[in-house]
Amino acid sequence: MTSRERESTPVLALRDVRAELGGRPVLRGIDLSVRPGEVVALLGANGSGKSTAVRTAIGQVPATSGAVELFGTPLRSFRDWARVGYVPQRTSAAGGVPATVSEIVSSGRLARTRFGLFRKADREAVGRALELVGMADRAKDSVTALSGGQHQRVLIARALVSEPELLIMDEPMAGVDLASQEVLAATLREQVGAGATVLLVLHELGPLEPLIDRAVVLRDGCVLHDGPPPKAVGQHALPGHDHVHPHEGAEPIRTGLLS
Ligand SMILES: Nc1ncnc2c1ncn2[C@@H]1O[C@H](COP(=O)(O)OP(=O)(O)OP(=O)(O)O)[C@@H](O)[C@H]1O
Ligand SMILES: [Mg+2]
Repeated sequence: MTSRERESTPVLALRDVRAELGGRPVLRGIDLSVRPGEVVALLGANGSGKSTAVRTAIGQVPATSGAVELFGTPLRSFRDWARVGYVPQRTSAAGGVPATVSEIVSSGRLARTRFGLFRKADREAVGRALELVGMADRAKDSVTALSGGQHQRVLIARALVSEPELLIMDEPMAGVDLASQEVLAATLREQVGAGATVLLVLHELGPLEPLIDRAVVLRDGCVLHDGPPPKAVGQHALPGHDHVHPHEGAEPIRTGLLS
């Protein structure tokens, strides 16, 4: 690959991707590409397929047709996961053995270590990531002792610790207090300044608006808009709106432009 080809190759590309969950079509042929250095917001109402789209992009949901590429490589042969940082959508479900803050963040560094052996550089990277999100003083605490916003910061540190070129965050601002939102916005600014490519699932642009280059809006598993970010309207644009998830059995809430 020449350097010019590398520059024009999307970091992430979904082409005419379809996906099903529980036997129901969820993505009905979507195109989504993110070019090097771009910050793209993926918007849409509850249930429109945003999380499924990003999970399909990283292989957590299989595409039933279409093509997915990461850094120009078809997903099925992509192995370079240290280049990708992923923050899943927060769920209230907690379980398993409680880990410490530093353990969670360290897990994000595994792809950069050899045989999982932590060296000084790895420990320093964990410290830096915790520093970035303002959680260094909580490194030894159990994650069960954290608030929702603090937990989210830890997940973001985990995504950053491998120093990824592509950051995918699914609603990083949902249920997060203003202070944590500020920390997150500053962290993202720094990542973008350092050349990171970012795909953000958002419900409203909010404090991240100045960072967004382009918005892709989904509706019922199809791309409704791909271009300049639309102006936020409706209840989701109101400050303090807490994002609820009426997935199973509930109709998505429909509000204005983004719904
Ligand atoms: N595990 C699952 N099994 C069956 N259907 C599912 C599953 N997960 C999600 N769905 C359905 O797929 C559709 C898209 O869900 P998805 O989570 O991608 O939406 P979303 O846009 O991320 O919504 P939200 O804004 O609520 O996070 C919804 O209709 C949802 O009910
Ligand atoms: Mg979602």
